[in-house]
Amino acid sequence: EKGEFKHFMLKEIYEQPAVMKAVLEGRINKGHLLEQAFGSEAGALFDQVKQVQIIACGTSYHAGMIASYWIEQLVGIPCRVEVASEFRYRPVVMPQGTLLLTLSQSGETADTLAALREVKDRVIGTLAICNVPGSSLVRESDLSLMTNAGPEIGVASTKAFTSQLVALMLTTLALGRRTGLSAKREQEILAELQQLPELLEKLLALDPEIEAMSAAFAEKHNALFLGRGTLYPVAMEGALKLKEISYIHAEAYPAGELKHGPLALVDKDMPVVTVAPNNAMLDKLKANLQEVRARGGELFVFAGQDQSIKQQDGISVIRLPAIPTLLEPIAYTLPLQLLSYHVAVLKGTDVDQPRNLAKSVTVE
Ligand code: F6R
Repeated sequence: EKGEFKHFMLKEIYEQPAVMKAVLEGRINKGHLLEQAFGSEAGALFDQVKQVQIIACGTSYHAGMIASYWIEQLVGIPCRVEVASEFRYRPVVMPQGTLLLTLSQSGETADTLAALREVKDRVIGTLAICNVPGSSLVRESDLSLMTNAGPEIGVASTKAFTSQLVALMLTTLALGRRTGLSAKREQEILAELQQLPELLEKLLALDPEIEAMSAAFAEKHNALFLGRGTLYPVAMEGALKLKEISYIHAEAYPAGELKHGPLALVDKDMPVVTVAPNNAMLDKLKANLQEVRARGGELFVFAGQDQSIKQQDGISVIRLPAIPTLLEPIAYTLPLQLLSYHVAVLKGTDVDQPRNLAKSVTVE
């Protein structure tokens, strides 16, 4: 039931603070992760992992991209990520000690299942992060971690994505314990994750501002999304949401790629959305913003606390509350979900059932 909400998608966006609680529920004890959450054999398997191969499709693939940054940064082992439909049809090399990690909201995505079946005999173990208990993916994997997001009805995935990110951070911690991530750091990260419900409530409070911004997109035919680091996959996810439900062509680029091609497209008809937190890359991103502005491109910036990016002619800024760095990809996703939602509503599309799409892609 949609209750007070006009669409399931909006309801599911607003459920995210509660979902963040649900995915952590019963998985932390006295500031430490309980590995049994992954299954009784998880500890023995995690001990042997030397590298991770992530497989997924669509939105779940974007979650996998973010996790690959986390795993290489915090665990310090190689992590590859690939869309299932590519992976399953090419000869793949699985180095010794590979953990296959599949991500899927439904657990029934044909390509993801086929990829799992294709390589399960060539890896040391398989872990599914999934929202549907008892789904094919869960049944066929050695280990599983449920995202506990509750049924997702809107075709455009929202709460499933952010809950996958939390589950992926828990996976990162479990692996990191084996490679020198300290108990203290684990405790700090878990404490940050536990702040998510409160943080996401603050982000939802930006909804009226984001709704006002959405009017600038309703008449456009294209949009560019830029981000760096873990916010590059977030930009990809923002672009996918806009395409899916508003039918506006949107593409995401790592901000540094702008001058290697897409800058040629920038003019007043090409809105550019950037996700720009406070980190070492901010100065570089500011240079990118100037490049866009100089070509008459209209900028829409989701900014952190740094006041140097200011609202001015041609630059609309939505300022986000203070966000711990590791949580940035989770936090910056919400405003982008709301943006695509409001653009779709203005365009009058069928938000929960976009044309040509199915909730679960069980055929190739
Ligand atoms: C996008 C979307 C799709 C799914 C993809 C994978 O909003 O929902 O891109 O993410 O079809 O589905 P799952 O996660 O069920 O394997």
